[in-house]
Amino acid sequence: MAKVSKVLGLHLSPNQKGTSKVLLDKFAQGVIEAGSEYSMLSISNYSNLSGCVECGSCSKTGQCQISDDMEVFYQAFDENNKIVVASSLFFYDVPAQGKAVIDRSQAYWSRRYLLGQNQKGKEGAKGFLLAVGATKGKDLFTPVSLSVKYFFDALAFPKTFGTLFFKSLEGPSDISDEQFLQARAAGFEFGSFF
Ligand SMILES: Cc1cc2nc3c(=O)[nH]c(=O)nc-3n(C[C@H](O)[C@H](O)[C@H](O)COP(=O)(O)O)c2cc1C
Repeated sequence: MAKVSKVLGLHLSPNQKGTSKVLLDKFAQGVIEAGSEYSMLSISNYSNLSGCVECGSCSKTGQCQISDDMEVFYQAFDENNKIVVASSLFFYDVPAQGKAVIDRSQAYWSRRYLLGQNQKGKEGAKGFLLAVGATKGKDLFTPVSLSVKYFFDALAFPKTFGTLFFKSLEGPSDISDEQFLQARAAGFEFGSFF
């Protein structure tokens, strides 16, 4: 039986009609055209999301003891083998609500690095980062790339991952036809191999 990759779109901007969501939807079109399964979680749909409170619980049990909407995200991380993170930049990194999701992946980091679990990761695991910003500095995407790199590492995803960065986009109306095509083509490639 052919293997199908399961792709999670992880949208970390609070604007559910914003630039990063519009581009993520285009990326998803490519993923689906390539034959992969696709589902999406956006932080804009979850208001009960705490940041990590550094209680130390996960370092002993591997589980986060905060009970909130993060449970939906944990389940999705476990059920999918590919994750595309889509985000705008807020002060060079993912918006605070999205950073909460990344920080809460400390439970996976603890399992992997303190408790010796999940060393191998899952078959076909692969990450992608699609990020947009309104400005155009040389190092614009360096901080977000590092945050997402270590998020993927906590999940035991490979340290190298695909990227698509869009500068000078204030809002969805600034997205060019060529940028839409780029997002769709990147999604197709990401969804194409297992
Ligand atoms: C609080 C805040 C901080 C921002 N910080 C940056 C930034 O550091 N660099 C940048 O290029 N754009 C920054 N922007 C602009 C957004 O990244 C940009 O408008 C983006 O297209 C918004 O995408 P979204 O609608 O998907 O959230 C910021 C916007 C806001 C509201």
